[in-house]
Amino acid sequence: MVGLVVRTPDFLREGWELGLRLGSPLPPPRHLLVLGMGGSGIGGDLLRGLLYDRVGFPVTVVKDYSLPAWVGPQDAVFACSYSGNTEETLSAYEAAGRAGARCVAVTSGGQLADRARADGIPWVRIPPGLPPRAALGYLLGPMLGALHRWGWMEGLEEELGEAEAVLRSLSARWGPEVPTLDNPAKQLARALVGRLPVVYAASRLSEAAALRWKTQLNENSKVYATWNVFPELNHNETVGWALAGQPEGLLEVVVLRDPEDPPRLVRRVEITRQVALGATGFHEVWAHGRGRLTRVLSLVLFGDLVSVYLAYLNEVDPTPVAAIDELKRRLET
Ligand code: PA5
Repeated sequence: MVGLVVRTPDFLREGWELGLRLGSPLPPPRHLLVLGMGGSGIGGDLLRGLLYDRVGFPVTVVKDYSLPAWVGPQDAVFACSYSGNTEETLSAYEAAGRAGARCVAVTSGGQLADRARADGIPWVRIPPGLPPRAALGYLLGPMLGALHRWGWMEGLEEELGEAEAVLRSLSARWGPEVPTLDNPAKQLARALVGRLPVVYAASRLSEAAALRWKTQLNENSKVYATWNVFPELNHNETVGWALAGQPEGLLEVVVLRDPEDPPRLVRRVEITRQVALGATGFHEVWAHGRGRLTRVLSLVLFGDLVSVYLAYLNEVDPTPVAAIDELKRRLET
């Protein structure tokens, strides 16, 4: 798993190249939907965060069997499933077809590839044989490449180039060969042993990264974890700290920070720390790079590595996800 995590920049570049093959410029949609569950859905969350205030159409991520009633022929859909066999995504894909939306599938094969072929819709074939969550670059990259090729968003090519270079250098700095003394990802993993990680995004940019941290801690480290985002958490979760903080040593807060977090949110993080979090373990992890794509993916990379190092410290294999496999098996019968 760790070998795959440090290859994220390669997978992102290869995924981007695959997306570039998706035709020529197209008029933007009324609405863009990304369908996908778990490791195949997080690319949609990241895309939504990146596009939020940069494109003239809304982005909706669907992690369910059905679609909103408003979906129609002017909308575009990315249907993402690494295996191609995830029933929620297949069902939503069928619904998108019935609604007449313009679909593109991103998958390594399975039923989604079969259906895309039968329906005559474009699909991106990504390499098989990886755990879906380790294929993030292959799932996000094609969507970015396609958006660039279709002319739906400016500046993506430069952002992709920066992300690739910065992630490569960060992979070397935080990678498995670097000893704990010099490796902040290994140090944070140590601090999380035996604790319940609570991951907070300081602002919208890092929201999808915080969700990714939580799911990677679940699947790789096999631990329970929670996540939330400022400022919303100040309107509910902060109150819960009155009791939650009391069992000393139970919770460990990690706040994902971005140098461009708006000052109002920076103030909130600081005041929340003073009034609510008390003696709870508290860590800040900072984004690296200039462009938004790099900044958010640097947070993702750090979290992915922490989750794998924590797995080793917990003496569990980060790769298998027996509970997910068992659920899928039982649902099939
Ligand atoms: O990480 C995982 O294995 C899961 O979260 C899967 O991504 C999820 O179950 C969906 O499967 P797929 O990615 O094959 O569509």
